Amino acid sequence: MMEHSERVERYRAMVEDRLCAHLPDMHVSYEKLCDAMRYSLMAGGKRLRPILALEFCRVCGGDVSAAVGVACGVEMLHTYSLIHDDLPCMDDDDYRRGRPSNHKVFGDATAVLAGDALQAMAFEAVLSADIPPERRARCAAVLASCAGVSGICGGQQLDMEWEGRELSENELMEIHSRKTAALIRAACLMGAAAAGASAEQESAAVRYADAIGLAFQVRDDVLDVIGSSKELGKPIGSDMERGKFTFVELLGVDGCNELIKAKTEEAKKAVREDFKEPEFLIWLADMLAGRNN
Ligand code: IPE
Ligand code: IPE
Ligand code: MG
Ligand code: MG
Ligand code: MG
Repeated sequence: MMEHSERVERYRAMVEDRLCAHLPDMHVSYEKLCDAMRYSLMAGGKRLRPILALEFCRVCGGDVSAAVGVACGVEMLHTYSLIHDDLPCMDDDDYRRGRPSNHKVFGDATAVLAGDALQAMAFEAVLSADIPPERRARCAAVLASCAGVSGICGGQQLDMEWEGRELSENELMEIHSRKTAALIRAACLMGAAAAGASAEQESAAVRYADAIGLAFQVRDDVLDVIGSSKELGKPIGSDMERGKFTFVELLGVDGCNELIKAKTEEAKKAVREDFKEPEFLIWLADMLAGRNN
């Protein structure tokens, strides 16, 4: 059986090759916009969401190579959300994926447009994936709903609007589940849908995604306090600087670690029963709980 880390590398390579192929021809009059899209999309990143999409496709019995377009769509959408998240009118962060943020290199207006174009390209990628048309449509609908007003955009609105005040646990949960867990849910569910998964498998995928999705953003909040900017490839201390009330303030670092542990166990439990080969997903949940980048 393939080693887990080998599988990660294989998925990453499949996704990066296809991402490259999706990028528009550089020799066009609007070349600067293409440069800006390529700059952020090909800057590395963990590629967590496409890895999840491909693995859920595999454990649901689907053809992983046919689902690469679906996986790339999730990564394009994620990259757009990072470009916009760093803008001066949002988190105002100058550093991302180990290099200056998109707007620092290309200017605010081009960064906005690069994000917009990546979001549209995400749907093109999903809708041109090599899977039956009704599965493509379902994947696109899932992505739209997780990215939109009740997902990333709604979560980012609350994150911004509630800056500078103390939040309850429920309010923080709401921000985290919309701004971050929603796209992780989309990735898992789209992978399952690409394979034509059963309703039980889809529901297990959602339970896994929601649990690792919350743990993922709690770990992100912790790393903003105790992480290393070099390892993370983005600034630390950004949340405090902007007056964001995070899980670290509510629970302390130890309390966050407890919550991450509980959510990771919940995620592992969710996939044990409904999939024949859940080992990689179980390993991945553990890796994410202790990640430093
Ligand atoms: C960063 O996401 C934004 C959050 C939702 C916390 P990732 O930590 O997955 O960023 P990349 O893709 O690896 O750069
Ligand atoms: C990420 O939240 C949410 C989205 C990009 C949608 P953060 O603002 O905490 O992410 P980082 O820390 O800048 O990566
Ligand atoms: Mg933010
Ligand atoms: Mg940010
Ligand atoms: Mg953060």
